[in-house]
Amino acid sequence: MKPTLLQIPVARPLLDEMEVEAVRRVVLSGWVTQGPEVAAFESEFADFVQADHACAVSNCTTALHLALKAIGVGPGDEVITVSHSFIATANAIRYCGAIPVFVDIEADGFNMDPDLILSEITSRTKAILCVHQLGMPCNLVSIVDIGRSHGIPVIEDAACATGSEILWNDKWQKIGKPHADIACFSFHPRKVVTTGDGGMLTTGSAEYDHKFRLWRQHGMSVPDTVRHGSKQVIYEGYPELGYNYRMTDLQAAIGRVQLARLPALVARRRHLAALYGQGLRNTPWLEIPAEPSWARSNWQSYCVKLPPWIDQRDTMQALLDMGVSTRRGIMNIHREDAYADKASHRVAASQLARSIAAQEGAIILPLFAQMTDDEVSFVTEALCDLCSDRRTAIA
Ligand SMILES: Cc1ncc(COP(=O)(O)O)c(C=O)c1O
Repeated sequence: MKPTLLQIPVARPLLDEMEVEAVRRVVLSGWVTQGPEVAAFESEFADFVQADHACAVSNCTTALHLALKAIGVGPGDEVITVSHSFIATANAIRYCGAIPVFVDIEADGFNMDPDLILSEITSRTKAILCVHQLGMPCNLVSIVDIGRSHGIPVIEDAACATGSEILWNDKWQKIGKPHADIACFSFHPRKVVTTGDGGMLTTGSAEYDHKFRLWRQHGMSVPDTVRHGSKQVIYEGYPELGYNYRMTDLQAAIGRVQLARLPALVARRRHLAALYGQGLRNTPWLEIPAEPSWARSNWQSYCVKLPPWIDQRDTMQALLDMGVSTRRGIMNIHREDAYADKASHRVAASQLARSIAAQEGAIILPLFAQMTDDEVSFVTEALCDLCSDRRTAIA
């Protein structure tokens, strides 16, 4: 075992006095729930991703729920998505009473395989919900093409992809413009920028944006900010069933600072991912992640596929014994007890062999902006040594 005094977490948000100062300003302003800071954060986020509309909500799960609802997904409908994702992706579909239809991921990488979508389209298909898993843009050109040619809206689960880019009509553009109909982001602390918890919906549709704003605040016809600032008495109405999916001004103030940091955070993460690539490229047994020519990842996570003769749990434990935290490959939603009822979902006829293999045979290595180059080298060497030792043991 390699002795070390290091403790390397799998992720760590970068928060300092700038976020503290932003929160202090909001606390002292006396307006702490959804208000001017949320509006400013939305406007700055929209500018950043070049979206017509950005609407902040409490997290990405609620964003996904509102996105599906806006598109009209309801009981009995089907939404084509992946099982290889965080459970919230499919849960949001079930909140609408609809059924997630799980297709497999590509042979290379961890994103939806567009070639498997067509055969799953039925008269009940109401939407495609693709995921930019681990921050790596999925093959949106092909997915949007399929959606458009069948009149099926496409929602991007961009929970992990704030700051990632895609080559679109020969131009590099931020994920979230959006390139499909609606994109949903997460600001959970495991993501590249965080507000503690938080989410954002972006869209080119004023109609969808209007719905998001209505539904996120109880379906209330007049927002608090308008009533508060009015010189006339205003009685609000509740024309539709809504939710409390608000982001607070405290969170938004943090989000604004984080957004200003984002280009530097992404640049640092890209540097660290390149270092991992250099260090691991020559280990013949490991499969390291690669960007397609049309994608620039924010490297929210760096996930490697282990060779079949290496046990995932043993490897993770051995690394943890050396002070290095890792996580297993992305979960498979259909394998969880919450999805044990076969009526809760449908698995594509092509099955999910790659999704299962990725869950069981991949590990996520530490990657965060404050991580040093030496720490990346340490993790790289530790993993290479483990592979070599194991190879020797079974030879
Ligand atoms: C792909 C994906 N979708 C949705 C979510 C849910 O995000 P949130 O925790 O902000 O609700 C996550 C969170 O990890 C995620 O990774």
